[in-house]
Amino acid sequence: MAGATAHANWSSKWTFILATVGSAVGLGNIWKFPYQAGENGGGAFVLFYLAFVFLIGLPVLMAELSLGRRGQKSPVYTMRDIAALEGRSRLWELLGWSGVIGGFVIITYYSVVGGWVLAYIVKAVQGFGGFDADASRAAFGAFSTDSTSPVIWHAVFMAITVWIVARGVKGGLEKAVTYLMPALFILLIGMVIYSGITGNLQAALEFLFTPDFGKLFFDSSVNAVTGDVTETFTIRRVLNSLGLAFFSLSLGMGTIMTYGSYLTKDVNIGRSAFTIALADSAVAIMAGLAIFPIVFAYGLNPGESVGLVFITLPIAFGQMPGGEIVGALFFFLLAFAAITSAISLLEPTVSYISERTNGSRTKVAIAVGVASGSIGLLSALGQPGNILGDITIFGMDIMTAKSFLTDNIMMPAGGLFIALFAGWFVSRKNAMEELAIDVPSFKTWYFLIRYVCPIAITAVFISVLTL
Ligand code: TRP
Repeated sequence: MAGATAHANWSSKWTFILATVGSAVGLGNIWKFPYQAGENGGGAFVLFYLAFVFLIGLPVLMAELSLGRRGQKSPVYTMRDIAALEGRSRLWELLGWSGVIGGFVIITYYSVVGGWVLAYIVKAVQGFGGFDADASRAAFGAFSTDSTSPVIWHAVFMAITVWIVARGVKGGLEKAVTYLMPALFILLIGMVIYSGITGNLQAALEFLFTPDFGKLFFDSSVNAVTGDVTETFTIRRVLNSLGLAFFSLSLGMGTIMTYGSYLTKDVNIGRSAFTIALADSAVAIMAGLAIFPIVFAYGLNPGESVGLVFITLPIAFGQMPGGEIVGALFFFLLAFAAITSAISLLEPTVSYISERTNGSRTKVAIAVGVASGSIGLLSALGQPGNILGDITIFGMDIMTAKSFLTDNIMMPAGGLFIALFAGWFVSRKNAMEELAIDVPSFKTWYFLIRYVCPIAITAVFISVLTL
């Protein structure tokens, strides 16, 4: 049968966790989480994000891992095989498809931001000396609206990703992940401490951890003539926090299913998934704690949008002793985290096409990289102020529109169908056997995946459509 490749396994349980954390931890945690928390008013958004990570993300993560381990193939074939074994419709393989397509759409803008990070390694070495808020904002603005530099860095990021995917994910990468992910973690802790001491920690803590539900659920607009403030109820930011939870955990698109397919029987999926979710959300919170004290100390706007991390941290690097080295190291480790995530976005498309066509992995990887890299040009040049900056799709610039489509529609929808499949279309006995966790944990998981996940995701979708 097509796709029945002999499957390699992870060298150990620990490499599996690190690799999955490598996929999960990336720009989503360190770039997207802080800027979206900033745009969406802080505390209440963060609270919903965390609740979604543990109540919805974690059960879906477990479901994806266990389906992957049972299927032992790429998502399309895994879903087809398991649906067949359970006597279900072949249509379930569409879920595998949506992952292939979704990963492809994400990588077309992910690599652009990855390119920004690479560019900032060089900028950090040159030094951010004397940067205040305005200078830092102006520097990012000048860079992101330039029509050549971001494009070149985007191509470099894509080339590195393709190169690694073409060589196969095993080998060097496992070793690199073992050292570099913990290094990123430690450096982040250091930066949290530095920002906490030199910045406005109290304002940051208040912003991130004091939920103001008014800011989450209401849009306020001021009437220019009368000065009256009108508040309109919205569920948009709740959907956004759900999307971010899925994005930061790499869920709903079959990526994690692929990782599960390399998993051996002796690994406890419940415990590993919990460790992964914890590490992932911890990195997001730490990024917030490194960034917001600077935001408030320098009078920046929390809603600085996609440039937030690139505007705030250089101010700190410009001031601290040895900031050139620390800054370069930070952006280097962030680039590494972004590359390990980018690999996991490209991998499903590449492995599917090579399984399907029996084509050489290298050729397929290059072709996919060139295709998504070319589409990515639109995101690079579509930044507000850049040459395609005036193009809007439903009122959003190109990158924001792609991010909306994948995070807020495709991933939650993918998560919904994975929850439905694992909870209702796989027999209880098989689900239990495959997850292989103790009975009380299984019962909790089963309840969450059958009821809580589908109902919550559907409720958020329906309210966004109707409110
Ligand atoms: N989780 C990654 C991040 O936070 C992005 C990512 C990698 C992803 N693979 C994915 C998101 C698959 C969705 C699906 O940066």
